[in-house]
Amino acid sequence: MKQVIHPDALRSWLDWQRSKGHKVGFVPTMGALHEGHAQLVRQARAENDVVAVSIFVNPTQFNDQQDLINYPRTLEADSQLLASAGCDILFAPGVSEMYPDGLKEEPLPVALLGLDTLMEGALRPGHFMGVMQVVNKLFEAVGPCRAYFGQKDFQQLAIVRRMTAELELPVTIVPCPIVREPDGLAMSSRNRRLQPHERAVAPLLYQALQLAQSLWAGHEAAEIEHRAAEFLSREPLFGLEYFQIVDVDTLQPVAPGQKKNAVACIAARLGVIRLIDNAVLG
Ligand code: PAJ
Repeated sequence: MKQVIHPDALRSWLDWQRSKGHKVGFVPTMGALHEGHAQLVRQARAENDVVAVSIFVNPTQFNDQQDLINYPRTLEADSQLLASAGCDILFAPGVSEMYPDGLKEEPLPVALLGLDTLMEGALRPGHFMGVMQVVNKLFEAVGPCRAYFGQKDFQQLAIVRRMTAELELPVTIVPCPIVREPDGLAMSSRNRRLQPHERAVAPLLYQALQLAQSLWAGHEAAEIEHRAAEFLSREPLFGLEYFQIVDVDTLQPVAPGQKKNAVACIAARLGVIRLIDNAVLG
């Protein structure tokens, strides 16, 4: 597996591959890789001739500086996982390579049509601006490709799709299913920072989503949201931030009686760690 730190080096290697007719699959990550990331890489491997993965902990998408400082950085183990999952080139830039003009806001001309108003967008001001900024830079460094994103970050996926369409980028976004631990907990780089007693109750997050799935056919969204919140509140270690049932396309609350295209999204704090998850309903 090749490893580069400069966007120009990545671009010229991938341009050379494309000149030979090779299709490029790209998986952007922030490292601290786990089986969820590995699945994205394997899918990219299966569907393309060349696979590029980026590891970059992007400062502009962290609204909580402590979270940025504490974000796990495990480059050595990550490289091994990537090599065995079939990555051909690892792009692991530093902040100065990604932001040669310094960290500053560079708003993009993208109308998000409310995709960023609720949930993560409401609770993490500036987060999606930072995500769009870095994903746009990454896409520029990679060039024409298929890019793989997990449904774990449902709102991020919707926003990246919208950005790609609005800016007419030569990138096809490929959504990938959520990978879970055997007990249902969605895999996340942040899980490794949970204390053992927190890890033990963490699967309740997914159980709240499963409760919503089981109630979906016979109950209104508002009642399900209430019952799921009540279910999670029985475990005092959790601090629920939201449990919201929204339309999969608009990410706005479902209309009364709407039974199609709905997804339940949850965010909760477990100690100092913030976890998110979601499940499509119906
Ligand atoms: P990161 O959290 O490292 O996630 C990288 C990709 O892996 C995302 O598309 C995410 O949805 C996916 N992923 C994470 N956990 C997953 C799981 N359990 N199952 C399936 N997919 C999973 O998301 C980011 O990084 C950043 O915001 C990034 C897009 C790289 C921009 O900085």
